[in-house]
Amino acid sequence: MPAEEIIQRMSELAEKLLLWQSQYAQGRPTVSDLEYDKVWDDLRQMEEQNPEQRLPWSPTQRVGSDLSHGFPERAHEVPVLSLDKAYAVSELEAWLKKNQGLSSQPLVVVAEQKLDGLSVVLYYENGILERALTRGNGWVGNDVTANIKTIPTVPLKLEPGLRLAVRGEVYLPKSQFSSINARQEEPYANARNLAAGTLRRVKSRETAEVPLHIFCYEAFFLAWPGQTLPSGHLEALAALKTLGFPVNAPIAALSPEGQFTGVQRHSLELLSCRGIPYAELGPLVEDQTRQRPTLDWDIDGLVLKVDALNLREELGATEHHPRWAMAYKFESPQGETKVEEITVQVGRTGRVTPVARVSPVAVGGSTITFVTLHNEGFIEGLELNIGDIVAISRRGDVIPAVERVVEKLTPGTWKFPEFCPSCGSCLRKEGAHAFCPQPDCPDQKRYRLIFFAGKDQMDIENLGPETVDTLISLGLVNDPSDFFTCDYDKLLDVAGFGPKKVELIRAGVEKARKQPFVRVLTALGIPDLGPKLAQLLIEAGLKSYAALREALENRAQELVNLPGVGERTVESLKLGLLKPSVSRLIDKLTQAGLVMEAQAPRGPENTAFAGTVWCVTGSFEKFQPRALAEEEILKRAGRVVSAVSGATTHLLAGSGAGSKLQKAQSLGVRVVSEQAFLTALAQERVPGL
Ligand code: IVH
Repeated sequence: MPAEEIIQRMSELAEKLLLWQSQYAQGRPTVSDLEYDKVWDDLRQMEEQNPEQRLPWSPTQRVGSDLSHGFPERAHEVPVLSLDKAYAVSELEAWLKKNQGLSSQPLVVVAEQKLDGLSVVLYYENGILERALTRGNGWVGNDVTANIKTIPTVPLKLEPGLRLAVRGEVYLPKSQFSSINARQEEPYANARNLAAGTLRRVKSRETAEVPLHIFCYEAFFLAWPGQTLPSGHLEALAALKTLGFPVNAPIAALSPEGQFTGVQRHSLELLSCRGIPYAELGPLVEDQTRQRPTLDWDIDGLVLKVDALNLREELGATEHHPRWAMAYKFESPQGETKVEEITVQVGRTGRVTPVARVSPVAVGGSTITFVTLHNEGFIEGLELNIGDIVAISRRGDVIPAVERVVEKLTPGTWKFPEFCPSCGSCLRKEGAHAFCPQPDCPDQKRYRLIFFAGKDQMDIENLGPETVDTLISLGLVNDPSDFFTCDYDKLLDVAGFGPKKVELIRAGVEKARKQPFVRVLTALGIPDLGPKLAQLLIEAGLKSYAALREALENRAQELVNLPGVGERTVESLKLGLLKPSVSRLIDKLTQAGLVMEAQAPRGPENTAFAGTVWCVTGSFEKFQPRALAEEEILKRAGRVVSAVSGATTHLLAGSGAGSKLQKAQSLGVRVVSEQAFLTALAQERVPGL
């Protein structure tokens, strides 16, 4: 088929699909799913065979693609200004009065909801959606066209010859937000932030999976063959609506006495918006404040806009905002402040988190200086840079969150570092987050130690972050087991550490040595292994590290059957608990005398093996899996370690015992056969004694 014919055929199919899509969206489908799918498949096939000829407005673009794309910066055709703000009805009234004074006719002002989403501009050339840009700094935005095309209600193709720029707000309906956010690894503070993250997905297929919506609220008609261009805002909105754009009905059209001209009346009907006198502005604001929680989209105020476009032109704009519009902002526990610095922190798991230091600002009753920025995608979604003015919220009791950039004072977006700020390793991206892959990274180590000693873990009294830092700087602790073995007298040389204080620290450590196994397990800081899961595992009979290890190695599938444990959790446990570094740490903690098994809730105490340290290797006839033998040792108050060392007292060696047997022999550790072990169990005494 010649190229022209291919294009012709593809256009026909695409036109058909777009028509059917819009009929379907209006609740009036005209074809069966089968018929629709057939045409869809035909178009997809033609596009696959002729990728060069694929139409930019093809409905297949709505499902997005797996190809990564960036968000190149592009200049806006008209600067995208922001709105001047008022916080009281009296300010709005003063603004109305001033503008009425400048106008020769009764001034008509349109009141709309101020949508709390992401501002975008859609550019149509010759009737086709050419480009969609974020607001950016007002002059330059990011090209998010591929992702915008996945929003089903955004028209991809209008009438030939139509040149148009449309401003709108992309948002995620509140109802959708709650159900999606429940599945997020790290929940988003609000629908706006999740929408921002989604619009910034580099794979548009991922954007297509989140049901983003858009409301359009400003139109600049540049050319429309055969049509008179709108002369007022209501007319422009009505035209947008007729063209198929989603338009949030304006709340009201205000005029001094509630009077209107014919054209406006026509648009009012089309938009189902009422006309009211200025005097009703107060009740209108009250009414909207009441309605706010019942809406399925977030609004943070109202916008008043002069209707007549010629008057708008006369009024003009300041550098930042037009004089023909004014926003009214609802009161909210929000503060605005400047981002002074952005730093990155490396947590105990290696996750690298950007944090903003802001000029101190009071929000919801307390002063905020640091705010988490979550990850790279979050910062990009906000288009945030150091020096920008941001709005900070604190909803309920939650951690402060950056809601938006209120004023973009520094061009561009802050660049996430490539290297770990603590150890310099090259960062690795896993999902939304960046990780430092170096387990010996000083910051990771520090946070692991602080976490281990922390209140919800081992709760080592009098050993807070500052003391941990001092111990690290003296070279006294390197891993958590050192807390139980190090020489605290060395602290006496440090200013601020008197004998009394050191004694208190030692007492805290001794007390912590007796913490139950569930705390030890949690204190390891294995991702997903919190107190709840640790208790669950223990109750399922995995009462020691050895038992856990055995289960993870040999019957991980059984763990998936535990309530609330999924494949992903088991994977995290495997990854975390089976690491050689963790098993080494367990050995050291065992040798330091910590409680390494969950105490049996009842039954007389059996201490037949007390004071012994066992390593179990090889395979056995009676003890399959091996953990059964380890359980017998633990039941009798013996300890079990995974490697042979000088502190090991017994090696239980089954058939096929290898290097551990050699090591035990070289260290003079008593080697016990399965038969001798069975005898020892029967006699309830330690072999060799
Ligand atoms: S009109 C030149 N109308 O509020 C002014 N803006 O702080 C054109 N917004 O960046 C904007 N709802 O993202 C307008 N109904 C509405 C709006 C609205 C939300 C946003 C928009 C803008 C910000 C101003």
